[in-house]
Amino acid sequence: MKLLISESEIKKRVKVLANKINEDYKGKIPIFIGILNGCYVFMADLLREIELDVEVDFVKIRSYEGDSSTGTIKFRKDISADINGRDIIIVEDIIDSGFTINFLVNRLRNSGPKSVAVATALFKNEVAKLDFDVDYVGFEIPPEFVVGYGLDYNEKYRHLKDVMVMEPEDIK
Ligand code: IMP
Ligand code: MG
Repeated sequence: MKLLISESEIKKRVKVLANKINEDYKGKIPIFIGILNGCYVFMADLLREIELDVEVDFVKIRSYEGDSSTGTIKFRKDISADINGRDIIIVEDIIDSGFTINFLVNRLRNSGPKSVAVATALFKNEVAKLDFDVDYVGFEIPPEFVVGYGLDYNEKYRHLKDVMVMEPEDIK
């Protein structure tokens, strides 16, 4: 595996994103909705730099098997919060094709939130096809398969502190 983004670069960038959110949502109480499993590291880091009153919830969605998208969404856990009239910030580990995030944004919009924003640690901007702009992007990355910082290959490597590119010979 090859290093793509180091722990210290991530730390700096997460602070910048959190400061922007602190400014943008001054006086508001947004609900952060994380997409499990991948969001958990980024969500924990981001939220501990937030100085607002916030609420936290999660959805669990799966679209990937191994190193590629299946093109179908499996919804494993829905939100518990009532989001009607609320400001929502969706937290994602990575936007690849954009399939997952498009699906979730459209689904949440049906429940009448006041606003929906998206924060993602990583963004494969060359491949993503989105119906909206991503508000908070950690890093734009090339269209390669990465692991670490919450991201897995068949549920492994989520605990790595850096973002690593998997070499083709690592992907069986
Ligand atoms: P999308 O629906 O194609 O945008 O993919 C979104 C989901 O696929 C993410 O939430 C990840 O769980 C997974 N995914 C996409 N690219 C990668 C990658 O490079 N490494 C690990 N997981 C990925
Ligand atoms: Mg994910």
